[in-house]
Amino acid sequence: MQNPGGVNIPKTPELLRDFEQFKRELKQRTGLDLEQYKFDQTYRRIWTMAERAGFSRFTDYLRYLSQDESRMRAFIDRLAINVSEMFRNPEQFEILHKEVLPHLLQRRHSLKVWSAGCSYGAEAYSIAILLHELAPNRGHQILGTDIDTDVLERAQRGVFAPSDVRNVPPLYLQRYFRVFEENGRTLYEADPILKRYLRFQKHNLLSDPYPQGFDLIACRNVIIYFSEEAKERIFREFYRALTPGGYLFLGNTERIFHYQQIGYENPFAFYYRKPEQEVQRWRNAS
Ligand SMILES: C[S@@+](CC[C@H](N)C(=O)[O-])C[C@H]1O[C@@H](n2cnc3c(N)ncnc32)[C@H](O)[C@@H]1O
Repeated sequence: MQNPGGVNIPKTPELLRDFEQFKRELKQRTGLDLEQYKFDQTYRRIWTMAERAGFSRFTDYLRYLSQDESRMRAFIDRLAINVSEMFRNPEQFEILHKEVLPHLLQRRHSLKVWSAGCSYGAEAYSIAILLHELAPNRGHQILGTDIDTDVLERAQRGVFAPSDVRNVPPLYLQRYFRVFEENGRTLYEADPILKRYLRFQKHNLLSDPYPQGFDLIACRNVIIYFSEEAKERIFREFYRALTPGGYLFLGNTERIFHYQQIGYENPFAFYYRKPEQEVQRWRNAS
């Protein structure tokens, strides 16, 4: 049974205590820290998964998950939700194509981009297409990272389903993809010319040190699962990871409300920029 509004989710004091123990043990076993995820959403989703597997206590469900590594893996993957597609929210990619990337390419010969929480790579490949269209063969580097290693393997392969490419402009689809059939399904494989720009590796946004020196960071539809404190820390970490003039690109439902306090400008909806003069201002102040 679906519980979209959490209406039928029981929350007795005993279950709440049981959930706390579930979180502690899950962290010990897997390193995944659910404290940094939104409480209600996480509680609801795990309760629903436990109930579907026939359990009425979180800790019993954890014992069941712990008996089998692939079962635990599947649980973490489902919790992480890997939904993605290329050129997700095309109007935002239009701004990337027409405004953000041309601006960055005026200042720098080759760009360093990070797709954080990249899932199976649809976003990273979309950015690779735009960069290749605007400034081909300049040695751009696009790093795709995710907490989930299974999706990273898929990203490396660069093979997409028809639903992933539905927003790809027909010209790009023709130019950058090889269409083939596998087990009766039509699939689209990205051209090696795009793969040359891309590198994928595991990274947990909540606990790993952040790589540095990016002109563009896309982190879209990832932080929606995190608590307000975790989001705040991530926005500050991204700020440090950007070069002056670099942009942070967020998802359709995501905003930084007090972006000015961190130091960002907000030149376009869903795009936050570290000011060009940041280094100069910092030098003057010190
Ligand atoms: C909904 S997908 C977003 C994919 C892509 N950015 C997009 O907008 O289409 C969210 C991704 O965030 C990843 N994720 C969740 N928690 C994470 C964490 N702590 N660190 C890094 N990635 C995480 C998930 O594994 C999942 O692949």
